[in-house]
Amino acid sequence: MHSCHRLILASLQLLCLLLSFTNSISLKKCSQGRTCSDRPPVVLIPGDLGNQLEARLDKPSVVHYVCYKKTADYFTLWLNLELLVPVAIDCWIDNIRLLYNRTTHLTEAPPGVDVRVPGFGKTFSVEYLDPSKQSVGMYFFTIVQSLVELGYTRDDDIRGAPYDWRKAPNENKEYFLQLQHMIEEMAEKAGGPVVLIAHSMGNMYTLYFLNHQPQAWKDRYIKAFVSLGPPWAGVAKTLRVVATGDNNRIPVISPLKIRSQQRTAVSTIWLLPYAHSWPPNKTMVSTPNTTYTVKDYQRFFKDIDYEDGWAMREDTEPLVSALKPPGVPVHCLYGTGIPTAESFNYTTFPDGEPTVINGEGDGTVNLLSAIQCKRWMGQQTQPVYMTELPGNEHVAMLSNMTTVSYIKNVLFSP
Ligand SMILES: *[C@@H]1O[C@H](CO)[C@@H](O)[C@H](O)[C@H]1NC(C)=O
Ligand SMILES: *[C@@H]1O[C@H](CO)[C@@H](O)[C@H](O)[C@H]1NC(C)=O
Ligand SMILES: *[C@@H]1O[C@H](CO)[C@@H](O)[C@H](O)[C@H]1NC(C)=O
Ligand SMILES: *[C@@H]1O[C@H](CO)[C@@H](O)[C@H](O)[C@H]1NC(C)=O
Ligand SMILES: *[C@@H]1O[C@H](CO)[C@@H](O)[C@H](O)[C@H]1NC(C)=O
Repeated sequence: MHSCHRLILASLQLLCLLLSFTNSISLKKCSQGRTCSDRPPVVLIPGDLGNQLEARLDKPSVVHYVCYKKTADYFTLWLNLELLVPVAIDCWIDNIRLLYNRTTHLTEAPPGVDVRVPGFGKTFSVEYLDPSKQSVGMYFFTIVQSLVELGYTRDDDIRGAPYDWRKAPNENKEYFLQLQHMIEEMAEKAGGPVVLIAHSMGNMYTLYFLNHQPQAWKDRYIKAFVSLGPPWAGVAKTLRVVATGDNNRIPVISPLKIRSQQRTAVSTIWLLPYAHSWPPNKTMVSTPNTTYTVKDYQRFFKDIDYEDGWAMREDTEPLVSALKPPGVPVHCLYGTGIPTAESFNYTTFPDGEPTVINGEGDGTVNLLSAIQCKRWMGQQTQPVYMTELPGNEHVAMLSNMTTVSYIKNVLFSP
């Protein structure tokens, strides 16, 4: 079941891919005379591929006669296993890809494809990626269910903040306003600050958000930031995704075919390893002709014949690359002990399959990347806690009881 989960998740883009408690601990009157709860509200911020997406079609043309050209209503684009089988996947790729405009530096959906994010402020879209709730797409469910059993109410004091994870924060400005308003509303209702729980790329989104809020706002509205599997310095496996495509060894999906879609996801390029943490002399990709380090992305994109990629990197690299402290209490939890791609050796570049050189991490996020929250100790007055979770895989860590217990502790201890 789990390997299947990883297989499916991993197969699509990265393809396998939380104290000032005193004012909320006791029952107190809210502004409108309601009795407030003793639980801090919780907002869940998912990672790459980490919430549902829907699409409606009215396309001028399709890539195959079996593909729908027009649909009456929105249907689930992610995660929908029926769309990921041979032939159907060609239609899916043509609908989920983005078109990059090098003049505006913005992406858009292909003509006649309308993609929307269902369930902002609710939990369903982040509990299960697949609306049919197949265990294969189980995501934040275990955490949500465990908190509901402790008295939380779905869509009320525990809510999800899904977004279009194909894009980076520069193209999701509305999202951050929505998130800000939701946090304010939840905090006012509860009479106390909110706990943010982010996973994977959701941590980069959360950092970007917090970096753009005044300190007084954060002091008032944020109790803590629980950071699960954070890729602060990027993820090495994105290099392979961008160069070759990554079907994560699902033979029916051609990596080169899915590459065409994977390359257009700006967020993947945003997640390429960062020079602020990776050694500048480390070979990340080697080919028969040359080697590439984290300083060589311009040449890398030229050589793979995808110069839009370099423009996308330039657009997105500055968003959180300063790793400015979030200015709230941080709890960083990260898995270790799972072989994690660290560099790639190609004999045929970029169209051949590389030899993968593994390093330490959670199977997706390199350890070097996850532990960068450590640098905030001393850089901010709020505490920063680091917790290693040995043997925890990147997505599996969300269902691990050690993670759940840690979260309960953050929520219920003074
Ligand atoms: C890119 O955006 C510009 C400005 O809006 C527009 O004129 C141009 O047609 C767009 N290019 C493509 C390829 O859509
Ligand atoms: C990179 O440089 C450092 C410092 O000069 C050195 O210790 C390390 O061995 C070098 N690593 C590689 C892969 O060359
Ligand atoms: C790599 O070297 C081979 C053989 O010299 C050459 O044919 C090929 O074009 C080179 N590739 C690049 C990207 O320079
Ligand atoms: C890459 O693979 C080739 C062929 O297997 C090998 O000769 C070379 O040493 C490898 N390079 C690295 C950096 O691992
Ligand atoms: C949960 O995490 C703990 C701490 O890392 C680990 O020891 C344990 O094996 C994990 N449990 C499962 C079922 O993966």
